[in-house]
Amino acid sequence: MPTLIYLIGFMGSGKSTLGSILANVLGYDFMDLDDVLVTRFRRSIEAVFTEEGEDAFRAAEQALVRESTMMEETVISTGGGAFLFAENRSLMSQHGLTVYLRLPLSLLVDRLRSSRHRPLLYDDRGVTLTGAALETRIGHLLEEREPFYEMADLVIDVEPGSVGQTVDTLFKEIQAFAKKPA
Ligand code: S3P
Repeated sequence: MPTLIYLIGFMGSGKSTLGSILANVLGYDFMDLDDVLVTRFRRSIEAVFTEEGEDAFRAAEQALVRESTMMEETVISTGGGAFLFAENRSLMSQHGLTVYLRLPLSLLVDRLRSSRHRPLLYDDRGVTLTGAALETRIGHLLEEREPFYEMADLVIDVEPGSVGQTVDTLFKEIQAFAKKPA
């Protein structure tokens, strides 16, 4: 088994939920990069975005990705923007196995409708978009991001409603990938 497993994908794809269960199954530690950033900044992600700006958030995120490469036997869930940056991609790919959790647009929109703490889904008054505007925003971001997400070592289609089944698929695919000759 690879010693580091990075879960990547769009906001709302279940990286944290699936990651912590997968870590349990593997007997690995679990690390959620966003949670660590919140602890370090002693502020919510939306507060960091508004008060320090997205660039400051991305710089801290990159420092943390670099730090995470020193860990062992850990499943790491990353924020939806982390894999878009070339340096983060190469750090993650060099040191671990990268896994894209893929969901169709319609499912992401459903899951993100009740999101309140994701600044990239806010309107210009800082309120989460709704209806068609939310769908358009998610659609644009996904279109822009998917080519990067698909650079991951593994792409796993997340089955709606069945966390157990997705973790099972993840476990088997990771195992199969690890056994493949290089
Ligand atoms: C972001 C995703 C968020 C968080 C920040 C930016 C993104 O994490 O890192 O709001 O650029 O997609 P989740 O993917 O866990 O929502």
